[in-house]
Amino acid sequence: MTPEMHSQIVAAAAQLRAGGVVAFPTETVYGLGADISNPSAVRRIFEIKKRPIDHPLIVHFADAARLQYWAEEVPEAAWRLAECFWPGPLTLILPRSCHVPSSVTGGQDMVGLRIPDHPIALALLNELGSEKALAAPSANRFGRISPTTAAHVREELGHAVDMILDGGACAVGLESTIVGFSGQTATILRPGGVSLAALAEVLNGKIVLPQVKNSTVRVPGALVSHYAPLTPLEVWPTKILWQRAHKLEAQGRRVMIIGWSEPEPDPVSPENKNIAYFLMPCKAAAYGSRLYAILRRFDHGRFDYLLAEAPPDDPAWLAVADRLQRASHTSFDKLQDDDYGKGNTPDENRHE
Ligand code: TXA
Ligand code: MG
Repeated sequence: MTPEMHSQIVAAAAQLRAGGVVAFPTETVYGLGADISNPSAVRRIFEIKKRPIDHPLIVHFADAARLQYWAEEVPEAAWRLAECFWPGPLTLILPRSCHVPSSVTGGQDMVGLRIPDHPIALALLNELGSEKALAAPSANRFGRISPTTAAHVREELGHAVDMILDGGACAVGLESTIVGFSGQTATILRPGGVSLAALAEVLNGKIVLPQVKNSTVRVPGALVSHYAPLTPLEVWPTKILWQRAHKLEAQGRRVMIIGWSEPEPDPVSPENKNIAYFLMPCKAAAYGSRLYAILRRFDHGRFDYLLAEAPPDDPAWLAVADRLQRASHTSFDKLQDDDYGKGNTPDENRHE
């Protein structure tokens, strides 16, 4: 770590001790941090994000040995996950201890806990001291795309925050996997940086994927529209993607296709004046690390529609598929009935 970054971290810790709000990098996305023991600083997080105050914040700390300090009760399965994945992109939902104010958890008795795997985040937490922890939601306005660079935070929150620590682009690029517990059985509440396969291996398969939408737990990331660009985003299977693009183009719309499979040369309108194509990585982790930055890049008014190619139906793509679905304004199922339903079968061969 450079001496300049070290002195910025010392300054950021001083800001936090004085009740400030500091944006900092983690391996997943940038967080908007405040000392959990300072109620007015925590309140400012909700104000800056325009987030409803009953939506809980994740508590970040640095030392896994302190898990019992922040949680009242830690099931064996949670210890095992903490051992294997911390520091890392995993948040554990556990009963909160008396050291976690209820304002941080939106009034709930459960708290989300995580040790981030980023040298700047860890240095900041260590500088604050082990009796301190940072409440840190993603550093974006409620419902919008999470920031994966310091520039994204600056663009969106600008002077509302006291300081932004710049750690470059986040390596994972999607938020942490959130896991809750019922006895020794773990439940994924939000897919994310730690894969389902990795969790299942550590827990000998004792893991469930719930219907998040029907969950009684309040998870803003589980609202129907979240992580969303302003430009309408639609998610389409590969075979229908171009057909949809041409339909929109014929209506005079400018379309950006965000795909992961190489596009075939287009026989219908070779010039494609109003259709642009951006090729994403075809591996889930690489795709996930770029998704938010790409959605932001194409969300500046030059396109009327963003069309994302549906990701492969493979557990490795779970987090990407989840974020695309939540970022999309219209679901495939709905459009299927309107435009491509029975009696109007797409020409499946045209663009395959
Ligand atoms: O990767 C991440 O988790 C990032 C970085 C900054 O660490 N943070 C993040 O925070 O994504 P946020 O606030 O944008 O999303 C946190 C999610 C929310 O959906 C929230 O409802 C859920 O975690 N959560 C936090 N505490 C919870 C609790 N006690 N019970 C249920 N869900 C909880
Ligand atoms: Mg968020």
